[in-house]
Amino acid sequence: MPLARSLSVTSLSGLEEWDEEFDLEDAVLFEIAWEVANKVGGIYTVIQTKARLTSEEWGENYFLVGPYVESNVRTQVELIEPTNPALKQTIDKMNSSGCKVYFGRWLIEGSPYVVLIDIAFTAWSLDSWKSELWELCSIGVPWFDREANDAVLFGFLTAWLLGEFAAQCEQPAHIVAHFHEWLAGLGLVLCRQRQLPVATIFTTHATLLGRYLCAGNVDFYNNLAEVFVGFECGIYMNINKYELFQKIEAGDRQIYHRYCIERAAAHCAHVFTTVSQITAIEAEHLLKRKPDIVTPNGLNVKKFSAMHEFQNLHAQSKSRIQEFVRGHFYGHLDFNLDKCLFLFIAGRYEFSNKGADIFLEALARLNYLLRVNHSDVTVIAFFIMPARTNNFNVETLKGQAVRKQLWDTAQTVKERFGKKLYESLLVGQLPDVSKMLDKEDFTIMKRAIFATQRQCQPPICTHNMLEDSSDPILNCVRRIGLFNSSADRVKIIFHPEFLSSTSPLLPMDYEEFVRGCHLGVFPSYYEPWGYTPAECTVMGIPSISTNLSGFGCFMEEHIADPTAYGIYILDRRCRGVDESCNQLTSFLFQFCKQSRRQRIIQRNRTERLSDLLDWKYLGRYYIAARHMALAKAFPDTFIYEPQETTAGFRYPRPASVPPSPALSRHSSPHHSEAEDNEDDERYDEDLEAEKDKVNIRQPYTLPMKNKSIA
Ligand code: UDP
Ligand code: G6P
Ligand code: GLC
Repeated sequence: MPLARSLSVTSLSGLEEWDEEFDLEDAVLFEIAWEVANKVGGIYTVIQTKARLTSEEWGENYFLVGPYVESNVRTQVELIEPTNPALKQTIDKMNSSGCKVYFGRWLIEGSPYVVLIDIAFTAWSLDSWKSELWELCSIGVPWFDREANDAVLFGFLTAWLLGEFAAQCEQPAHIVAHFHEWLAGLGLVLCRQRQLPVATIFTTHATLLGRYLCAGNVDFYNNLAEVFVGFECGIYMNINKYELFQKIEAGDRQIYHRYCIERAAAHCAHVFTTVSQITAIEAEHLLKRKPDIVTPNGLNVKKFSAMHEFQNLHAQSKSRIQEFVRGHFYGHLDFNLDKCLFLFIAGRYEFSNKGADIFLEALARLNYLLRVNHSDVTVIAFFIMPARTNNFNVETLKGQAVRKQLWDTAQTVKERFGKKLYESLLVGQLPDVSKMLDKEDFTIMKRAIFATQRQCQPPICTHNMLEDSSDPILNCVRRIGLFNSSADRVKIIFHPEFLSSTSPLLPMDYEEFVRGCHLGVFPSYYEPWGYTPAECTVMGIPSISTNLSGFGCFMEEHIADPTAYGIYILDRRCRGVDESCNQLTSFLFQFCKQSRRQRIIQRNRTERLSDLLDWKYLGRYYIAARHMALAKAFPDTFIYEPQETTAGFRYPRPASVPPSPALSRHSSPHHSEAEDNEDDERYDEDLEAEKDKVNIRQPYTLPMKNKSIA
């Protein structure tokens, strides 16, 4: 039986899956993360989107381990009896020893099994476990750091679970435990310290220090090496330097103990991975271990049977966003909604790390450019970043109520009109148009119009912010003066909560919202990967990312001309903030100058990149990491033979595409603006013309052999 998996990918348009010839035998995979069935940010997306592929590979032997959060379990998990006898015994034993461990199926694609641990139930052990941690590795966790306390409880409980499981297995099991991020990292450290028969992998999705330092006023990338030296000297050599460093960088943020947990996990792991090359370099400097392999993040790419279905979905979702905008700007709808472009930024609220600062600045500049150029385009920029609020504000809710009232009024008058028309036709007469609307109809309509008057500008923020006066987005808006006034060509809506289809304000889930927008703007300064632009790509929505984000670098590496595909990559590496901001403004302004037809063509090109981001393809790096770990932990049974990785492939520039979409206006078939609006489906011709022959060699081959069979 041939042992090595062979990857024979020749074309990205029809990426082949490799032959499943590697025998995992009795191996069991546990994947442990704080974001299992618990949404916080991108790590949830990693686990949730990858679940189907991993379940297909590991079947009944795949278990996700996360924290028990009742509200999440009620909506996402079906609790069942454990199917695996060893795991059942493990859970029973833990539950009879004062723990609360649940087992179920996570109701997502792939329906993976989940083991959820109620850490609060075991909080009584916190002090003794903290002492043990101190004895073991001199990491002292302060009482006030709630997140670190959770990490201690979660770590000790997962190590307990794995140890118990290994003991319950009848035959020596080959267990792989894959831990994500520092919050889960302690479990890994304890597995190694207790010498459990477990092959361990640690994936970091960011470094703690990197994230914190970037959020401060630090020229991070140019001083990476020094940050580390400062830390090293401080900790091990020179107390003054440490104090200095701590004061300047980390001390006031109280993250040293967290950093120690992260660094310990990275060093203890059989295999250490991170999500992008840029974070690999950062990890090498800050955590002092070079990742063994980079495991880029993928997505579950949906293929529609109709090729242009994603374009139809864009139109449908856009009309729902337009409805919201009608309500939000009631009384000030003095712009043409059909010429309105929806831009957005979304993600965890890290103002400067996510680039919300330069996005706002660029919007101010764009506003100026659109005004001086007398553009008829209006830009509405959405900021979807969760902050502390106490619910929607009255003015925003009122906007939607007013819109609904206008709609209802129009329906009432329409019905009365229709009735009169019908009655007139019944008696064989054409209606007297002047009598179709009577006084009462006019009264109803006037009343409805009066209700649309408002004394204030349409609100910037949809919610009541708890920290309104110190909120960075609101303060920046105050500074740049973009207050949604009539004269502004750029309007801003800040929605400080993740989107939900049950919202009374904007009842759309995030995916629907993204589909309805025209451009995602993610000018991050610190972004190990950045799912948001990747999600835009697979939905055929162009996006702006940066060459400091894992996604941006990945796309730059694999696409000859990313801009031609609607992947704008901002240079934040070699330019100053002001220069980057100018470049961003120029991207935005060029985008605003595109015709509808050009946008449609560009969306087609963007969507064609989705295969590149599919787990079907990117999942192989995870597989390689697991095989590497198995071979390191169980060298008598497994061997891992690294083969030469072939040079990375590159998507060529589409044959019919000029160097940048800004210029594509001149190269697209001649057309007028009127034609743009006439027949959108004519983009088919362009699509045909653009069909490229993409023959791409595989980027990586999986070299795993199983010794026992070999
Ligand atoms: N997201 C979401 N709802 C929203 C806005 C964002 O679920 O309303 C998700 C989005 O789909 C993405 C994640 O939040 O998967 C953000 O991940 P990313 O990697 O971009 O950044 P992180 O927050 O992890 O730093
Ligand atoms: C899709 C739809 C078209 C629609 C267009 C709007 O392509 O299939 O029917 O006209 O979107 O594009 P726009 O960029 O103006 O939102
Ligand atoms: C982290 C990073 C983000 C990445 C995500 C998933 O939260 O900030 O850039 O996409 O993890 O790996």
